[in-house]
Amino acid sequence: MRKTVYWIEGDGVGPEIWRAARPVIDAALGLESGLILEWIEVPAGEKAAAETGSPLPEATLRALSQADVAVKGPLGTSVGTGIRSLNVLLRQTFDLYAGIRPVRSFRGLETPVRHPERVDMVVFRENTEDVYAGIEYAAGSPEARKLIEFLRDELGATSLREDAAVGIKPMSEYASVRLVRRALRYALERGLDSLTLVHKGNIMKFTEGAFRHWGYELAAREFAGQTCTEKKPEAGKLVVKDRIADAMFQEALLRPEQYRVLAATNLNGDYLSDALAAQVGGLGLAPGANMSDSLAFFEAVHGTAPDIAGWDRANPGSLMLCGAMLLEHLGVPAAAERIRAALEKSIAAKTVTEDLAPQVPGARTVGCAAFGDIVGAKL
Ligand code: NAI
Repeated sequence: MRKTVYWIEGDGVGPEIWRAARPVIDAALGLESGLILEWIEVPAGEKAAAETGSPLPEATLRALSQADVAVKGPLGTSVGTGIRSLNVLLRQTFDLYAGIRPVRSFRGLETPVRHPERVDMVVFRENTEDVYAGIEYAAGSPEARKLIEFLRDELGATSLREDAAVGIKPMSEYASVRLVRRALRYALERGLDSLTLVHKGNIMKFTEGAFRHWGYELAAREFAGQTCTEKKPEAGKLVVKDRIADAMFQEALLRPEQYRVLAATNLNGDYLSDALAAQVGGLGLAPGANMSDSLAFFEAVHGTAPDIAGWDRANPGSLMLCGAMLLEHLGVPAAAERIRAALEKSIAAKTVTEDLAPQVPGARTVGCAAFGDIVGAKL
């Protein structure tokens, strides 16, 4: 079977990490799975801007609107295009409402915690709402003043200073429920034992508190036979629990083994996924995906690394692990596991890129291309 995968090369280190990562992804898939990936490049970012005048050309948007899987390298934001962030634009255009970040440790990689191996979580972050919705007004602007006047005079918000900057935090049942549903399905399909709703509902009762409430309500309504709550545990069922965000950060350090899938609001999910990545060794080996109901868009979570771009110094590990996520998504988890195992063996052999070297005692530093060859050989 052939599967079309659209790919965006990305800016900065994009070309070099792709050159190292793609052969590994193809080789991990091998022929025995019966699946062959047909890679079709779609231009975006600086390369597209130079060729077509637009960092996100119409042809790319058209191709992606028909795609069900795509992978992207990092994108910088071209100066002077008027686009604040291509990543945000892609998320909005394709309604990629779920930000998904698996976090697992790699043997042999020193981390800031003593037991990184206890971390094995997947963060589902709501991508479209919260204070990230982009509705905010500068201090002293006519919009901010008007909004403050309305809130004070019409709604009795007397504690607001007239010269404050203001932002709006929308949180809807629609967006919360579709995110939690996706996380629940993920946990159930894999037979995992718990899903935790992460929120700050003790303080923000009507937004974050509602996220928690809608999450529990959904589990009881749509997944009644398969889920239970922490207060009433039932053997063989997925436990749905919740944690206040600040407590969740403590739990992630103290008892990470008790958490498998986290469903979080946008801002909390953003903080949590980076903190968890640091716990297991940093962003160099962190893959991610943004998904809608029709498109799964995998991405290296790091940026374009302009300080090392073009010098064969980048770590292609994050992109290789995006490939592993892609293969798992396409129903070949054994191939995904081969990529992880090969990376782990390369770390164990103490041949790593320079960003990982300080975390691997006695490591020999190799370039991006050589690291790709080494991981490929370990497959
Ligand atoms: P960055 O992630 O590009 O770099 C931060 C540090 O990490 C640098 O020292 C860099 O050398 C290092 N680094 C990043 N990726 C690496 C890799 N694969 N191997 C080895 N070292 C690596 O973040 P920064 O500097 O804040 O952003 C640079 C550009 O990237 C900006 O234009 C930003 O907007 C964009 N960006 C894009 C993202 C995306 O497309 N998903 C995510 C983050 C930033």
